[in-house]
Amino acid sequence: MMRPGAPITVLVLACSVLLIQACSVRESRTLTDKNGTAWRPPDPKAIPQGPVGDNIRLGMRIFNETPKYAAEFVGNRQNCSDCHIQGGAQPYAAPMVGLSGLFPMFNQRANRVITLEDRVEECFVRSESGRPLPYDSPKMVAVVSYVHWLSQGQVSGKPFPGRGFVKLPKLTPDAGNGAAVYRDQCSGCHGQDGAGKPPILPALWGPDAYNDGAGMNSVEKMAAFVQHNMPQNKPGTLSAQEAYDVAAYVKSKPHQRFNPVFASY
Ligand code: HEC
Ligand code: HEC
Repeated sequence: MMRPGAPITVLVLACSVLLIQACSVRESRTLTDKNGTAWRPPDPKAIPQGPVGDNIRLGMRIFNETPKYAAEFVGNRQNCSDCHIQGGAQPYAAPMVGLSGLFPMFNQRANRVITLEDRVEECFVRSESGRPLPYDSPKMVAVVSYVHWLSQGQVSGKPFPGRGFVKLPKLTPDAGNGAAVYRDQCSGCHGQDGAGKPPILPALWGPDAYNDGAGMNSVEKMAAFVQHNMPQNKPGTLSAQEAYDVAAYVKSKPHQRFNPVFASY
């Protein structure tokens, strides 16, 4: 016998999933202000001449071509901009915009208040599978200057509206279905072996990819990144469930091990 409440529960669940998907698609493509004007990142051509501008440009190069410009601190072939798309300017791809006015802030993983420099080091030891960029090094100053430049015009203390990733419902992933999604929708660019073609097409597993301590190695985070930003040629077309499934499949593949020496980062 069917429980009287069952059909309604199913209906409500289905609707809320649909609503969340509709929201993430609507939110997703462009951010607009109250006049309906699309948000535009600052133009790199407007970076000033002189030492201040040179520093911002160095930070931009490190961000977009990390293994080339910060080789000694990188243990794979990932650019910051592989995940922080469009040089860290893309809404809902964990943009850098506005971060200058948000840090120092409490960090759950570290269980303490951390600075922007601390957070950059965290991505170096995890996402870049490398070593911490020294706190007071010229390269750190450059990266932070670039984030500061991207944050111009933002209100200090107020998160950028496209900060982080889209919010997806918490779902149970099916890595088996994820294998099929990967084959059909991802392997054309990232390779059936996950190796991609760095630096243009990033690796998702293996020696060129992030390590198992990275944020992207969390199924929930990768699903939210992927649902909004991938497949790169038709973003926003995967359902939340497909995004979870493919994220679980990618997580099941071999990744470099996080070096526990850096556990405090
Ligand atoms: C493999 C993917 C990946 C790469 C490569 C990567 N990051 Fe990240 N980064 C993430 C994820 C995932 C988060 C967490 C986003 C969230 O939870 O909202 C993050 C968060 C951050 C944050 C904090 C964002 C916020 O809103 O608080 C900063 C700053 C950052 N990364 C800087 C960098 C820098 C600088 C580099 C290059 C040296 C880099 N990341 C490389 C995936 C990556
Ligand atoms: C048309 C080529 C293309 C397709 C198809 C594609 N990607 Fe990507 N992917 C990219 C590129 C290029 C980047 C780097 C960021 C950017 O420039 O957009 C990227 C970045 C990523 C990243 C973050 C970087 C990293 O190394 O972790 C993940 C995760 C990812 N893709 C997963 C997927 C998944 C899952 C699919 C299938 C659902 C997919 N991609 C389909 C081209 C593609």
